[in-house]
Amino acid sequence: MKQPKIVGISGNARRPSKTRALVCAVAERISQKHGFAVDIFDLVDLGPSVEPTREEASKETTRVLEAIEGADALIIGTPVYKGAYAGLLKHLFDLIDPSALKDRPVLLTAVGGGQRHSLIIEHHLRPLFGFFEALTIPTGIYASEGDFTNGTITDPALSDRIDHAVNQLGAILIHEVFRTA
Ligand SMILES: Cc1cc2nc3c(=O)[nH]c(=O)nc-3n(C[C@H](O)[C@H](O)[C@H](O)COP(=O)(O)O)c2cc1C
Repeated sequence: MKQPKIVGISGNARRPSKTRALVCAVAERISQKHGFAVDIFDLVDLGPSVEPTREEASKETTRVLEAIEGADALIIGTPVYKGAYAGLLKHLFDLIDPSALKDRPVLLTAVGGGQRHSLIIEHHLRPLFGFFEALTIPTGIYASEGDFTNGTITDPALSDRIDHAVNQLGAILIHEVFRTA
């Protein structure tokens, strides 16, 4: 069976990172349920900034941009900074070709310090991917610091939500795999 290329982008600026832990948990669930592998990139590996234009992008930034544009599906994770997504994550997507993500399934996740900004997915992330005409998965996954113990997800409701979103993504991917087989 054809394996879809699934790419996870974690917008964390430091390690260890709960944002990365959430993206990894989603990736593991995709692998358990559907047998698909996920390549995960951390923005912390790109350094403190991203180059201003695509032409000036470093080899490493270009590798991440090409992975995003070549993916069959994306898992996006961002820490909440000042009520919105990380600026570096937005900067990376500023360099993506505007037509590259059309119809692409995108599963959205975010981690904040508390519940106050839990609508970041609906108010910030979903509109960004709306610009790209991507196919965002209906269930977004928001987590807060209290959902983790020693960096691992321990909240059962969050775990259920991951399952739900992964089932929605899986239904689309399996349909695509059979359509193109
Ligand atoms: C500069 C900065 C701004 C933040 N702003 C918010 C915020 O507005 N709302 C919120 O819920 N958490 C906020 N937080 C908390 C982070 O979202 C939270 O610690 C998150 O887990 C960080 O993800 P990470 O572990 O991947 O770095 C902020 C943290 C930092 C460092």
